[in-house]
Amino acid sequence: MLIFDSGAGGLSVLKIIKKFFPNIHYIYILDNEAFPYGNKKEVFLIERSIKIINKIKKKYPINIVVIACNTLSTLALSDLRKTFNFPIMGIFPAIKDAEKITKNKIIGLIATKATINSSYIRNIIYKKSGGNIIKTIGTNKLALMAEKKIRGIKVSKIELKNIFKPWVNLQVQPDTIILGCTHFLLLKKEIKKTLNKQSVFFVDSTKHTIFQIKNYFQKINFDQKIKSNIFFYSQKDKELKELILFLQKYQFKKIKHIDLN
Ligand code: DGL
Repeated sequence: MLIFDSGAGGLSVLKIIKKFFPNIHYIYILDNEAFPYGNKKEVFLIERSIKIINKIKKKYPINIVVIACNTLSTLALSDLRKTFNFPIMGIFPAIKDAEKITKNKIIGLIATKATINSSYIRNIIYKKSGGNIIKTIGTNKLALMAEKKIRGIKVSKIELKNIFKPWVNLQVQPDTIILGCTHFLLLKKEIKKTLNKQSVFFVDSTKHTIFQIKNYFQKINFDQKIKSNIFFYSQKDKELKELILFLQKYQFKKIKHIDLN
């Protein structure tokens, strides 16, 4: 299995995949050279993803790809599926799930600017299905804060407050929130505190990705062609030591640099 993201956000997805499929071997690409994906154009994101998959495909026998990133999934997944003939799963903000859960009919969706501005999300919001109101926040700052957190740097409460200001100032706040970026899963606790709400419900979008993977495994006789777990980063990171510490729980046999240029 190849799994990738611009950073550590995808590791939160990998953690859940490992829980459901403990024997699976994986190659993880942390494309930190192109971080953040949230401020990139669609063409760049499509080309970058194709490059990553092709590069790995040449050296390793991958049979399934997981795009552990909402930004890439909303902007590039359909092109990737046309380009490659193996299954490619993505992760999308689970708006339909939120619509079933919300009681006050106000849903919060926070994601990168690229995701919020994608035609995928704009179409859903335009249709306003279920008579719910979807309040969005597009930010490229929160993913960076998650990157800092996993490297042991304190998350700034003031910065968090500023990001969530549009919701905190609402008379009626969303009761159901979709964390539409895999990085944000790493900040759940901090986000809850910032919103100052006990009863907020976070929608789990990874559930659908897991379901797709399960379906795929049921259909085929899965042949584990990759024999150990490998972690690649696309840029030598100043805080690589701190990152490696965070990676300990993922049982990577090798941690290496990959040149994506
Ligand atoms: N983790 C990503 C996502 O789910 C992208 C964050 C970024 O690089 O901007 O959208």
